[in-house]
Amino acid sequence: MEVKILKRNIFQRMLGLSVTSEPKDSTCWNYSYGKLTVDLDKVPELKQAGGAIRLEGRDLPERILVFFGEDQQYYVFRNRCSHIGHRRLDPVPGTNTIQCCSVSKSTYDFGGNKIYGPAPHQLIRYSTIIDGNKLTTTIS
Ligand code: FES
Repeated sequence: MEVKILKRNIFQRMLGLSVTSEPKDSTCWNYSYGKLTVDLDKVPELKQAGGAIRLEGRDLPERILVFFGEDQQYYVFRNRCSHIGHRRLDPVPGTNTIQCCSVSKSTYDFGGNKIYGPAPHQLIRYSTIIDGNKLTTTIS
């Protein structure tokens, strides 16, 4: 599997600034009693392969990364690198990988398995259910 390094400058890496933004429409998602629901009609960011959003705050128990892979599947991960800095993650277009935004650039496959870098553990990936325009996942 190819490991491609996302183009980021040293300051972005040192500060842990991820490429992935929060959704433009903040009403596109809801979290209640452990269930995260995303209204895909309100998220143009996820229409193209490689598109991603990060969800944070409100009552979410942890940061979440949602992206649409080149394999036309939606993925939901805990947005926390397993390396000591626990920085955020970004999908790397064209590679079927996810990469930490930090200086060390730990990289994982879509199964959450580390394929590059110092991260000691795999990522936590959540299963998704697509029902019409709704993506749901249980955050445990
Ligand atoms: S926090 Fe991700 S590689 Fe260090």
